[in-house]
Amino acid sequence: MLGGGLVAGSLILVGGEPGIGKSTLLLQVSGIIARDVGPVLYISGEESIEQVKMRAERLDITGERLYLLATTELDAIGEAVQRLKPSLVIVDSIQTLSASYLTAAPGSISQVRECTVQLMHLAKGLHIPLFIIGHVTKEGTVAGPKALEHIVDAVLYLEGERYHSYRLLRGVKNRFGATHEVGVFEMHGEGLGEVLNPSAVFLSDRATGATGSAVVVSMDGTRPLLVEVQALATPSNFGNPRCTTNGIDHNRLLMLLAVLTKRVGLAVGNHDVYANVVGGFSLEEPSVDLGVAAAIASSYRERLIAPDMALIGEIGLSGELRAVNRLALRVREAAKLGFKRCIVPGAGGGAKVRSELAEAGLPDDFKVITASTLAVALEIVLQH
Ligand code: TYD
Ligand code: MG
Repeated sequence: MLGGGLVAGSLILVGGEPGIGKSTLLLQVSGIIARDVGPVLYISGEESIEQVKMRAERLDITGERLYLLATTELDAIGEAVQRLKPSLVIVDSIQTLSASYLTAAPGSISQVRECTVQLMHLAKGLHIPLFIIGHVTKEGTVAGPKALEHIVDAVLYLEGERYHSYRLLRGVKNRFGATHEVGVFEMHGEGLGEVLNPSAVFLSDRATGATGSAVVVSMDGTRPLLVEVQALATPSNFGNPRCTTNGIDHNRLLMLLAVLTKRVGLAVGNHDVYANVVGGFSLEEPSVDLGVAAAIASSYRERLIAPDMALIGEIGLSGELRAVNRLALRVREAAKLGFKRCIVPGAGGGAKVRSELAEAGLPDDFKVITASTLAVALEIVLQH
């Protein structure tokens, strides 16, 4: 996630909604660093030492070098860090801290900023990496992590839906490495566990035999992710058709509907259309266009998309399929997960794409099918 490791003296902000698992994640990180590297100081302004200790026991963290301090005072933190000189410091959370020389309340924008700047000096001065936890809050009373992004060296957001066990750790800024990395975790009874093959997980409960389901290959950072997209198109009962999305940009969906209408001739305009990304995942890349459009067409025409087929391609306003980056990586991931066919953009017969994929080391029984337009792709996809 941090593009190679923790840099000494760096200040890293971990943001997320209350209850998403920030304290759990960083306590686990603390346990590992304390066991393998050196002393860790975990400062909690939210929970008592007993509460943190109980959680550590639940997480099976026994490291002798893990030190807990319950305080909300910036000065006390400075003193403790100076004295212990730990290998890592965690501050949970920035919104509970206050600097004695400011009269503003903890959590106010001035306190949160000042405390962050002081922690930055502390980290840089002693060459100790320091994580701060920040709650993403509904607008209003408390200053959220957004207000701190420009001060810190790296920003990670822990996301997910509270009722889904998956958690995504997303890098949005990193002065020392690549951003846009994504780590996929699952919340168990014993804390967060890494999901080693996220694509397999996102596809595991796929209902085969249902129309309106397509598998797309999205890139998040350097990692390809296969994700199921579902769509439902039903004749609209009211004059004003609805279009509802979950995990896909609403305007992008409207554009795809327009292309389906005008370039493919599907009268989706008088249908309510729902599009959903399975697993609470959010797809922001245009390469998923083909899959989304195909899922809608599949539901509209009540034709199945073969379950062993993955779909890759950006769609332009003329209905053309446009090339996507890192094609070989994406196709290889689909093959690795047992898919047998993949539709990819291929203008002019697709010779260029084929030569690009020749080196990808795909299995012999894996078929790459090129299509130059959405209409052509749908002809191939919706045969059943
Ligand atoms: P927490 O780390 O306290 O969230 P945050 O610091 O972001 O507010 O985690 C909160 C939720 O995680 C809580 O509802 C309980 C759940 N949880 C587990 O499911 N398993 C665990 O092992 C732990 C420690 C927490
Ligand atoms: Mg917490």
